[in-house]
Formats: sequence, structure tokens, C-alpha cells
Amino acid sequence: MFESLSAASADAILGLIAEHKNDPRPEKIDLGVGVYRSAAGDTPILDVVKKAEQLLLDTQVSKAYIGTAGAADFNAAMQALTFGDSSTEERLSTIQTPGGSGSLRVAAGLILRASPGATVWTSEPTWANHIPLLGGAGLALQSYPYYDAENHVIKIDAMLDTLRSAAAGDIVLLHACCHNPSGLDPSVDEWGAISDIIAERDLVPFIDMAYQGFAADLDTDAYAIRHMAQRVPEMIVATSCSKNFGLYRDRVGTLSILSADSKASDIVNSQVNNVVRTIYSVPPDHGAAVVGLILGNDELRGAWLNELTEMRDRLRHMRVLLNDELVAKAPDYNFSHLVRATGMFCFLGVTAAQVARLKKDFGIYMVDSGRINIAGITPDNVSYLAASIAATLQAG
Ligand SMILES: Cc1ncc(COP(=O)(O)O)c(C=O)c1O
Repeated sequence: MFESLSAASADAILGLIAEHKNDPRPEKIDLGVGVYRSAAGDTPILDVVKKAEQLLLDTQVSKAYIGTAGAADFNAAMQALTFGDSSTEERLSTIQTPGGSGSLRVAAGLILRASPGATVWTSEPTWANHIPLLGGAGLALQSYPYYDAENHVIKIDAMLDTLRSAAAGDIVLLHACCHNPSGLDPSVDEWGAISDIIAERDLVPFIDMAYQGFAADLDTDAYAIRHMAQRVPEMIVATSCSKNFGLYRDRVGTLSILSADSKASDIVNSQVNNVVRTIYSVPPDHGAAVVGLILGNDELRGAWLNELTEMRDRLRHMRVLLNDELVAKAPDYNFSHLVRATGMFCFLGVTAAQVARLKKDFGIYMVDSGRINIAGITPDNVSYLAASIAATLQAG
């Protein structure tokens, strides 16, 4: 039977990681990866995670299955982190999922059951995995304009126009903060305009929050979700603890569904849990148990906030440093979008040919679109990076 298969296309980022690894040049820089890195170039386990893991090791008494919804204390703590003091609680249900990706996949299953004809609208561009993940699950996808690559701003008018053309009941996938790949998020006024159209046209917001705490702070970064929750009867929210707790491989996230009333919420909750049963049966426990311990203990929570702030501040600092270096080394070009963007990613603003030249001539690796991971920049490599970008731009 397998002779009917041909090889699946290789993941571009994995190929880039391998190329970077095999590059003998000591000055090489990897701006392609999708994880946070410290100034030392590693992706460390947070100290607070180590502490919570020790606690767990000492106190956990069973590895028996956890239910389809995961741990109730984790779900309650994550719901509060996501929605704040919400007046919509009786309409909300939250389950633990295997990362943000697992959450998106369960949401896709729910959408297919509830509204199989609906179109899911995604930003152009969006996180590279949104399309295969949601499309592969069977959802019909279309895109709305989002990033203006020439002027490095959000195409807000074109985005709103396209959303006005969506059919009632269609679903709009939005990034809560630190839009991946552009790093540019709507302003409060723009969120207001987006939610006006969503409410007027009976669209359903589907908000993906993979970087809470990486832009401004936990509450500000959840603004879009909390604002939207006050304006619409139904909403889908996927969260991930991969970045803000550094728990990538432990697969921790949540799926929250806001329903029109508590009766509908009970039905939705039963369907969500049934979708889980048909995919992975029950979520992994370890990472969510760690997050549950951290969020439920004032001392651990405080320690986590400090480490999260450290990661956010480092990213911010690297954005400013790179922009300052480029102002000095490439004064004819404007890189101010580096500091207008937040989180781990943004577009550098170079062509695919320049991406290739940066790799060949300088050992600087990034994906073809020119999206860079700011976490690959350090105080030690930023000057070399800026000089290489300046030389590449000057070469045309
Ligand atoms: C926008 C966005 N959503 C979701 C995810 C999923 O993260 P994970 O499945 O690792 O939790 C990511 C990860 O990079 C992301 O960037």
C-alpha cells in the first residue's frame, strides 16, 4: 500500500536549521528558528518550571489517564489568565489541549460539526502552520489582507473591506498579539473596528494567542480576546504555553469556547470533549500540571512573571539595538518597523534574493519570506548582523 505514496514536502525551517548547523563559519546567525533563545543562544528551561517539576515529582501519586478536558485547576487558571475577570464565565468552557496546535485542531473538529459550510478567514500572511493544520482538518479557508510589505503597516482598510464581504456565520482567525509572522497587531481603535464588523455581520472570532506576555504584559496582550468577549455571542480561543512558559515539547495549551448562553455552553462542551476523544483521547499531563502549580502559587507565579518579563525585555532590547545599528550602518533605509513590531517575529524587509545572499555571503539564515526571529539576535552578534544587512542592501 505504501508504494502509492511519494515523499511529503520537507519543512522549510527544519531544512534551514540543518543548513545552519552544518555551516562551519563561527560568525553564522540563525534567525529562522521558531523558539525563544537567550543571549547565550540556548532555549533554557525556566527556573520556575524546574522548581514546579521538582514539586510535581515529589507529590504526584499517579500517572492514570486524565479526562478528555484535562485538569480542572489548570483550565480554571488558564481561563482567568486569558479572559481576566470575565462576566461571561457561565458561557465559557475551557479544556486543556496538546499545545496551541492541538487546540486549533480540536477547534477545527468542532467547527466542522457545528458549521461544516463555514469559511475560516485567515490573515495574509499568517503563521505557516495555520493553513495546513486547519485546511488539512477539512476546513474551507480564505484570506483577508493584513500585512503591507512595502510600508510595513497593517492594511486595515483592505482587511475591514474583505471582512465586510464574509458570509454570516463565517469564522475570522485573528492573532491576539505578536502577530506571527509580521509582529504587527491592531491598535485598540482598530480592534474596535474589527469587532464592529464581526458583530454586525454575525461572524465568529477565532483568536489564537501563542505569545501572551511577549508584547506588553499579560493583560494588555489579551485585550482583543476580552474586548471581543464583551461584543459577540460566540467565540473560539486557542492558547499556547509553549513560548511564555518555555514548555514547547511538553505540549500545553487550551481551547476556550464562548457560547450564546449556559445551556449552549454545556452542549458545546460535550461536543468539544467528544472531538478530543476521536483524535487523541486525553491530553498529556506533565506540562499542564507544571503550569497549574505555577499559576496556583503566588511565589511561583511571581517568579514566572519575572522570567517572562526578562524574555520580553530581551526581545524588545534586541529590536532597538538592531534598529539603532541599521540607522548608523544603512542610513538610506528605514527599519523602524523592527521597533514598531512586538514579540519574536517580524519581516526584515528584504527580497528573497537578499535572503539568499545573506546566507551565502554572511552565514545569516532566515526563511525565504525574510521573516526573522528576533531571539536569534544577541548583543554580541548585532553589529555583524547590521553590517551584513547594510552590505547586502548596498549590493542591490
Ligand atoms: C501563531 C501561532 N499559533 C499557534 C502556535 C502553536 O504553538 P504550539 O503548538 O507549539 O503550542 C504557534 C507556534 O509557533 C504560533 O506561532
